[in-house]
Amino acid sequence: MKFGVCYYPEHWPEERWPEDARMMRELGLDVVRIAEFAWAKMEPAPGAYDWDWLDRAIDVLAEAGLAVILGTPTAAPPAWLTRAHPEILRVDANGRFRDHGTRRHTCPNSPTYRQFSRQIVQAMGERYGRDPRIIGWQIDNEFGGGGSARCYCEQCAAAFRTRLREKYGVLDALNDAWGTIFWSQTYTDWAQIRPPSDHIDKKNPSHVLDYYRFASDSFVGYQQEQVDLLRRLAPGRFITHNFMGLFRDLDQFGMAAPLDFATWDNYPTGNPERWRTLLYPPGADANRNDPLYAYDVGDPHVTGLAHELTRSLKNAPFWIMEQQCGHINWAQFNPGVRRGTPRLWTWHAVAAGAEAIVYFRWRATLYAQEQYHSGLLRHDGSPDVGYHDHLALQAERALLDAVTAQPADAPVGILFDYADLWALQLQPHRQDFGYLRLVYVYYLALRRLGMAVHLVPKTAVFTPYRLLIAPTAHLADGPLAQKLADYTHNGGTLLLGVRSGFKTPSNRVTDQPLPGALRDLAGATVTSWQALPPGVGVDIHTAVPHLTGPATYWIETLAAETAVPLAAYADGSGAALTEHGVGNGRVLYLGFYPTEAQARALLLHLAGQLVLEWLPDLPPGLVAARRGPYTILLNFTEQPIAYTLNARPLVVGGRDVVVI
Ligand code: GAL
Ligand code: ZN
Repeated sequence: MKFGVCYYPEHWPEERWPEDARMMRELGLDVVRIAEFAWAKMEPAPGAYDWDWLDRAIDVLAEAGLAVILGTPTAAPPAWLTRAHPEILRVDANGRFRDHGTRRHTCPNSPTYRQFSRQIVQAMGERYGRDPRIIGWQIDNEFGGGGSARCYCEQCAAAFRTRLREKYGVLDALNDAWGTIFWSQTYTDWAQIRPPSDHIDKKNPSHVLDYYRFASDSFVGYQQEQVDLLRRLAPGRFITHNFMGLFRDLDQFGMAAPLDFATWDNYPTGNPERWRTLLYPPGADANRNDPLYAYDVGDPHVTGLAHELTRSLKNAPFWIMEQQCGHINWAQFNPGVRRGTPRLWTWHAVAAGAEAIVYFRWRATLYAQEQYHSGLLRHDGSPDVGYHDHLALQAERALLDAVTAQPADAPVGILFDYADLWALQLQPHRQDFGYLRLVYVYYLALRRLGMAVHLVPKTAVFTPYRLLIAPTAHLADGPLAQKLADYTHNGGTLLLGVRSGFKTPSNRVTDQPLPGALRDLAGATVTSWQALPPGVGVDIHTAVPHLTGPATYWIETLAAETAVPLAAYADGSGAALTEHGVGNGRVLYLGFYPTEAQARALLLHLAGQLVLEWLPDLPPGLVAARRGPYTILLNFTEQPIAYTLNARPLVVGGRDVVVI
């Protein structure tokens, strides 16, 4: 495996570079990522490139024995460009533009911005593409970061209309798909259509969903121009992008498609604040960690789901392109990080399929926005906690290499689809019904059984998975139903959850009995559905071991037709869980939104039938993963945890790792 660090030579006097490079090598780092925010220094005036400093920085790093990753600098254009061409600035849903002085303030559909982006990437590619010291490229930086995924400018409006014409051909088709007869929205000329900005009260969800898809594809297209240039100018070098884990605004599968592998930026102490309220049942406190976990480790399952998603983007080993190695600066509390914690994070990533860890950043900056962010070195250049922790990892490199050489397989897949996510975000029906939260219930249940899982897009081949869970296949049509039917005919087990098949891909409700396009597959009909208020539940009767009621939150009553009921509501209304044999496989429909315990009971039942492996009774706070013959046990609490693995009793210390 590889270790590396993000470095900003442009932030430090040149006399310091050799010392930094020497220290990086001495520490045992292999790679260094540079240049992703240095456009203003590379091209100080239009078309006038200054490569001298970058040449020298690469010389110094390479002479020390470090391989270099270059970032294309398009996340932060120079001031001369934004001032000469203000039309490149991103416009938000309120019509306000984002000004110079930050990053990610540009529009992906601006022809001007695209042209300048291509020019700088072309110039960089011509200069460094075949340089043997450059092993790979990162395109831009964190597409969509800082709430920048959707732009509402005139250029985007025009590109959106073009896209809609391609998709619908004739206006009647668009009016029908969006249901514009409602509230007299009918369009009689393409020019009347605009992005769904905040000037609209109660937006049309079909209009918005198409805009979200368009906005996501805009970045796919923007990125592709850079990929095309670098494929030509930097043959044989890898091309990647640093994703943001559970970030919801862009379809990360689409973004990852043209890349060689995916990477993400992992800041665990920031994740409770960013994700807890989205992932845990309503009422989770966003401002604090789960007290179960040590205060400086973040929530391992939140981090874990992001690892699995990133691995799933290419169904391949991934990198951490930015790994937190001390305190961060952007959350509410930004706790200090203690010795042992960065090592725990590295092992956690490796357990999930990472094959490289690049720390963010080499040395804490003395100025500008991120002054309070740590690096491997403190502001004064002395080693900080991550530096010391990396020395501990150096002593374990042989074991790390052995583990990373193993495949990260998963026999279970969770169907994951951004359009489903967006559709439910637009019309959750009950406010706290979130797609990620529903996925997370199943994920947690699997993780606590030590079972690995891939997140699977609707476009993937499903056959590698013995069990495919669709927490909700919300937007469904005939082709999806056919694909799922083929999967089950070939022996797959499909578990469908609530709200499956409720809508068409246009984000309109199906006119068929529920679950719409998936009804034949389910062999059952949803005869009624409702969101339940907090505190209300309906008991269930079932022979599935440990699956007990009440069903809460969201319930659907099922009438089993060709399916067999496996659970029934105690109020006599109908079935709560059905099973339908399809070819060599079967389809289950779970008619209520499960708690983690309910999901766990059902998954254990299925794992037993499918003879999948799981780990018994993992204590809370202990995370376990398998890579090949290795089992990695990670303790995210302060206290030692005792556990018995294959009849072998062992103890994992607080914030410690044991590899068996
Ligand atoms: C990342 C970003 C880096 C830096 C870091 C600080 O999201 O890519 O450039 O800002 O956060 O935590
Ligand atoms: Zn725009």
